[in-house]
Amino acid sequence: MILLLSGSLRAGSANEALLRTARAVAAQAGVRTLLYDGLGRLPHFNPDDDREPLPAAVAGMRAAIEAADAVLICAPEYAGTLPGAFKNLLDWTVGGTEICDKPVAWVNVAAPGRGEGAEATLRTVLGYTGAAVVEAACVRVPVGHGDAGEDGVVADPEIRRRVGDVVRLLVAAGAGEA
Ligand SMILES: Cc1cc2nc3c(=O)[nH]c(=O)nc-3n(C[C@H](O)[C@H](O)[C@H](O)COP(=O)(O)O)c2cc1C
Repeated sequence: MILLLSGSLRAGSANEALLRTARAVAAQAGVRTLLYDGLGRLPHFNPDDDREPLPAAVAGMRAAIEAADAVLICAPEYAGTLPGAFKNLLDWTVGGTEICDKPVAWVNVAAPGRGEGAEATLRTVLGYTGAAVVEAACVRVPVGHGDAGEDGVVADPEIRRRVGDVVRLLVAAGAGEA
C-alpha cells in the first residue's frame, strides 16, 4: 500500500488533485493506496504528548505510515517553506520509528521555479526522520488550478503517465527493489 500525504488543507487543492490522480492511476495498475485525510485533525505537536497513550489522531497517522510500503507526499510552498500544518505532521513522525527506512518521495506540483523552498524543507525534515528518499520518484509535475476535472482527478495523459512512473518507482522501492 502506498500512503498518499497531502500538505494542503484547501478545498480544490492542486496537491490533493495530484494525489487523487495517483490513487486512480495506481488502482488501474492494481496498486493499493490510502489517501490520508487526517491532517486537519492532528493536534499541535507537543513533546510532552509524544508518549503513550498518544493522541488518537497521531496514533492513527503513525499506524497509517507503519502499514504503508511507501509514502508519496504532495505539499505546497507557503512563505518559502512547508505549510505549518504539514510540518506539524512531520514533527509528529520524528518521535516514532514508523517512517524510518520507509521509501518516501514527493511530487512538486508548482510551476517551474516555484515551490523549491518546500522541497528543501521536505528533504531536511525527512532526513531527520530517517526516511529513505526515493530520488528518482521525486519529480516536478505541474498541476494548474484548472487541470482537475469535476471528480477532482487530472485527466491529462502526460500528467497521468508521469504519475504512473512515480507509482511504479515507489512500488519497486517498497518491495525492496530500489
Ligand atoms: C499563505 C501562502 C503563502 C504562499 N507562499 C508561496 C511561496 O512562498 N512560494 C510559492 O511558490 N508559492 C506560494 N504560495 C502559493 C501556493 O503554494 C499555491 O497556491 C499552491 O497551489 C497551493 O497548493 P494547493 O493548491 O494544493 O492548496 C503561497 C500561498 C499561500 C496561501
